[in-house]
Amino acid sequence: MSKIYEALRQAELDRANGIAAETNPAQSAKTAVLDAPQVAVASAVASIDKTAVSADEDTSIAIAPIGDLIDLSNIVEYTWTPVLSQLPALEQRGVAVEQFRSLRSRMQEFRDLNTLKSILVSSGMPQEGKSFVAVNLAISLARHKSGRVLLIDGDMRRSTLHKLLGAPEGPGLTEYLSGKSLLTEVMQRPKPSEAGHPLPPGLASLVFIPGGHASDKAADLSGNRRFERLIADASPHFDWIIVDSSPVNLVSDGVNLARACDGVLLIARGGTTKFEVAQRAVAELKASKVLGFVLNAVQNPPATGGYYGYDGYDKVTE
Ligand SMILES: Nc1ncnc2c1ncn2[C@@H]1O[C@H](COP(=O)(O)OP(=O)(O)O)[C@@H](O)[C@H]1O
Ligand SMILES: [Mg+2]
Repeated sequence: MSKIYEALRQAELDRANGIAAETNPAQSAKTAVLDAPQVAVASAVASIDKTAVSADEDTSIAIAPIGDLIDLSNIVEYTWTPVLSQLPALEQRGVAVEQFRSLRSRMQEFRDLNTLKSILVSSGMPQEGKSFVAVNLAISLARHKSGRVLLIDGDMRRSTLHKLLGAPEGPGLTEYLSGKSLLTEVMQRPKPSEAGHPLPPGLASLVFIPGGHASDKAADLSGNRRFERLIADASPHFDWIIVDSSPVNLVSDGVNLARACDGVLLIARGGTTKFEVAQRAVAELKASKVLGFVLNAVQNPPATGGYYGYDGYDKVTE
């Protein structure tokens, strides 16, 4: 059993014994103003005191009770069948791999100066590339040395990450937030092949929480305190937590989940996202720290700087 599992188990035991749970530093640290990343669509930087921002208490669902022990050694391993054409970050080389590396570097630079571990990936409307960027960013971060990454599908209405990873869709976040499952019961990781082939870099250190079985209570669930608890409990044991989300201009789920995260990365799709849509997404997330925009699916991304662009993965796999 790794030290991570031991430490998590100890934290839960301490909690069960009445010792205060370790708090996520992001919940208490005052956030500093970040330099906006260079972006093509818009930049938005919010300086907020997160101690002043908390999700509304949902009295109908209790915070995980004493005895809700976390022991990551119980995480289920499944044979994943990743859809490689959708996961260019798994490739050895190519334009998209480089672009995701560049995005990863930018996140690491942010982190050198600010508290940044949990990142919600969002956008105003559907089909802008939230899930594509979330899963590929998570893989890119997990490829980096000591990159222990937790990827969460926070789009409980239309979860798709399990399809891209070729993983079971549940139980997942829906079941955890509704109190039906424990945290470790909704986590999964890929099973090494029986033939002894090593897992591709990027998957080996990835832990995944799928969206779970779709619920018409997604808005209520996303606003309850269990998500904060999830982030707080998982944070000490992962280097990064990446959370996919639903479109914030249409539903409030992403805004609710963002409150528990250190920062929000917004996606705008080249040639598709209207400026007003991007602007409104920033306004919806005014209570959170918006790190900046990723301009996704542009035809001719610049070699460096300027903005982040991801060429179509078809080109990469040619
Ligand atoms: N950079 C890209 N290049 C090619 N296809 C992309 C790119 N980004 C997203 N897509 C595709 O566009 C569709 C919508 O992307 P998705 O990530 O599911 O959007 P969202 O999560 O915002 O609804 C998917 O079929 C996805 O594979
Ligand atoms: Mg999506």
